Amino acid sequence: MILITGGAGFIGSNLVRYLLSAVAGPVLNLDKLTYAGNLQNLAAVWSDQRHVFVRGDIADADLIARLLAQYRPRAVLNLAAESHVDRSIHDPDSFMRTNVVGTFRLLEAACAYWAALPADQQARFRFLQVSTDEVYGSLDGAAPPAAEDAPYAPNSPYAASKAAADHLVRSFHRTYGLPVLTTNCSNNYGPHQFPEKLIPLAIHHALEDKPIPVYGDGGNIRDWLHVEDHCAAIARVLADGRPGESYNIGATNELPNIALVKLICATLDEERPRRDGASYLRQIAFVADRPGHDRRYAIDAGKIRRELGWAPSQSFEAGLRQTIRWYLNNQDWVSNVTTGAYRDWIARQYGASADRPQGDHPGGRIGNAALSAHPGGVEAAAAGL
Ligand code: NAD
Ligand code: TYD
Repeated sequence: MILITGGAGFIGSNLVRYLLSAVAGPVLNLDKLTYAGNLQNLAAVWSDQRHVFVRGDIADADLIARLLAQYRPRAVLNLAAESHVDRSIHDPDSFMRTNVVGTFRLLEAACAYWAALPADQQARFRFLQVSTDEVYGSLDGAAPPAAEDAPYAPNSPYAASKAAADHLVRSFHRTYGLPVLTTNCSNNYGPHQFPEKLIPLAIHHALEDKPIPVYGDGGNIRDWLHVEDHCAAIARVLADGRPGESYNIGATNELPNIALVKLICATLDEERPRRDGASYLRQIAFVADRPGHDRRYAIDAGKIRRELGWAPSQSFEAGLRQTIRWYLNNQDWVSNVTTGAYRDWIARQYGASADRPQGDHPGGRIGNAALSAHPGGVEAAAAGL
């Protein structure tokens, strides 16, 4: 049995499916079902007897202790988190509660459970913390990608909360001997990603004829990895990673946001042309930048390649096209998750008119005063095509 937390979210649900098909052992899936957690993500495994779902909070010490005692997992994979940078800017509190305090409570319970295991099971037990490249902070354009020994320099409340959690994980290894592993992965994309993140948001807004918001000048760089490659990497680290070590995960696939959004538009032009024959490019709208927006993330994944033999299997172009097709073929899923609370978030973040069709605001510029402060708009986007 493996205990996964956050298994109803984007990466967690992909990991549950991956483990059940590739590793074959039973999975205990603990998830609080926040706005980002969705049981529909688990439809493919819902009737699988090897999958046990429990709704609960990683900060609930009594619940965790009971689950560990009852199911006696050989590993805990901690994915549960508040994960969206923009929400962490508006509401950092929930990030501290889940990402910091929640991880601490989970560590405490796991440590007590581990300490009482028979010696052979104790030697095999692992606590794996799923973390992010955002803990390394922003890189200069010319800097080499961040390796595992790069200093932590988080800039958003989200990144700071993940960094704090990673430090707690490290301390439980150094102080109590808990056999921990930490993975730091770059930006993921793929099926079941909640449409608050850039790629599914751009697809959703394109299809809804709404502005596709690009922060700042669109020159911020992210390093993209398909979620299934991330899941395979986590499984490799769990199997053969050395306790106390961190492993970076990434595909050396850096892209400026504007190039990515244009690629999404071009792919959609082929897969689902607009009814009026125009390109989706016309919907791109530059909006005011995210406060503290990290300019560039890039990850050096040499260690996991050398030591554990992992390598990504998907090319970005093929993975992105497959992802776009998934969203096109799963519009019911999108409709179900883009209901009231989601609309409230989009209105809060981008201004009320961002949720209306393009025609409501000529020029494709988003109508929120703060957001439309940035020079550009759809005309600038089109000019740079
Ligand atoms: P997500 O927001 O899609 O899913 C998070 C899941 O955690 C949801 O199902 C939610 O209900 C659950 N959850 C939240 N608070 C909880 C709590 N207190 N107790 C139990 N469950 C709770 O996030 P994701 O994109 O799937 O990310 C999963 C993990 O991977 C996170 O730890 C994130 O920091 C990390 N990560 C994400 C990325 C990425 O690009 N998405 C990259 C690197 C690392
Ligand atoms: P996001 O998917 O939120 O991931 P992260 O901030 O964790 O990297 O954003 C990816 C990049 O896209 C980031 O540089 C911010 C940018 N972005 C936009 O330009 N517009 C948007 O509407 C969103 C959500 C993100």
